[in-house]
Amino acid sequence: MAPPAVIPFQIPPMPARSLTVELGERSYTICIGRGLLGDPQALAPHLGRGAVGVVTDATVAPLYLDRLRGAVGERLAFVEVLPVGEEHKNLATLARLYDVLIDARLERSGTLLALGGGVVGDITGFAAATWQRGVRFIQLPTTLLAQVDSSVGGKTAVNHPRGKNMIGAFHQPAFVLADIDTLRTLPAREYAAGLAEVLKYGLIGDREFHDWLQRHAAGLGAREPELLEEAVYRSCANKARVVAADEREGEGGVRALLNLGHTFGHALETATGYRHFLHGEAVAVGMALAAELSQRLGWIDAAEVAELRGLLGRLGLPTEVPASLDSATLIELMRGDKKSAGGRIRLVLLRRIGEACLTSDFTPAQLQAVLDDSRARAGGARA
Ligand code: NAD
Ligand code: GLY
Repeated sequence: MAPPAVIPFQIPPMPARSLTVELGERSYTICIGRGLLGDPQALAPHLGRGAVGVVTDATVAPLYLDRLRGAVGERLAFVEVLPVGEEHKNLATLARLYDVLIDARLERSGTLLALGGGVVGDITGFAAATWQRGVRFIQLPTTLLAQVDSSVGGKTAVNHPRGKNMIGAFHQPAFVLADIDTLRTLPAREYAAGLAEVLKYGLIGDREFHDWLQRHAAGLGAREPELLEEAVYRSCANKARVVAADEREGEGGVRALLNLGHTFGHALETATGYRHFLHGEAVAVGMALAAELSQRLGWIDAAEVAELRGLLGRLGLPTEVPASLDSATLIELMRGDKKSAGGRIRLVLLRRIGEACLTSDFTPAQLQAVLDDSRARAGGARA
């Protein structure tokens, strides 16, 4: 008698989970799960009627393009592979992308697929917003940061040499497909940078999630798939709720709170020519600084600031301003932030852990002191 067939034991991936960003006729689904990128059934219903073009970058293409090609099939009209990195998120790259769209004669019925991290997503989204006054696009985020933040909510942009994300538009994707499996190939630094944006959601509005993240920091650091899927899902649920309430970051609206740490962070990125910090790393420093300023205002206590710094550190994130940077230069850059009003810097600060506010309720001296103290702490250490 033939021996029984040996069936290898495998833990089946959990079924995909979905969320809706409720925006009336522009509502769309976020689908989160494992093995989704190569699944034609996951993508096909969202591809629209016209030609499909894929935009990706030179790191992501060799890893995931074949999988996507298989899922898109014959509808694929072109693939454009962008150079890698934040320093290419600019008008020159965008102009080259428009050339590709001209050559491909992409019509208004077409759909662009953004396969990659936030840089690919932001540039592709802006091209989609402006090409023939707007075509559909789908986000296929492959970094943690993009899965939990940049792929959701319709902010699209490129950088100006003197200001981050200064040229952009709101243009919602038609669908977001977050395949958790892609996170396995992310370099450790990029992965940690994404965790910074995950932490943000707990700090600004979800104390329960913050506590969950504290408890599961080690497992998340080890990229345990079940934890990751839960973290991406809960982050997207938070973001979807905020975007539904305040799509265009209106005055007094809640969306501005998603920028916890970002005014500091954008200044750090700009001051260092977009080369020293990853975006999420700059945000991590910014969140630590925002917590410190909140403490100086008497809103949170020193133990909470120390706990946050400790958590950021355990997740492999920086918390201090490099000593080589000048506080006055950073403050000047912060003044140019989109949230400034009447020349006054406004910052997202923490009333308590799990509750944030947008405020200019601090003095220039307090802000300067927070930056100076951080630079002093950084000294020669890693920042
Ligand atoms: P990124 O797009 O530069 O990707 C990071 C790096 O990881 C790149 O080198 C990329 O090639 C590589 N990569 C991507 N996926 C990979 C994978 N699965 N395996 C291995 N390598 C992979 O950066 P990011 O951190 O994803 O995004 C940062 C950008 O997002 C910034 O420009 C920021 O301004 C923007 N952003 C936008 C929003 C928004 O709402 N639109 C929100 C947050 C951030
Ligand atoms: N990442 C900030 C926002 O989407 O509003």
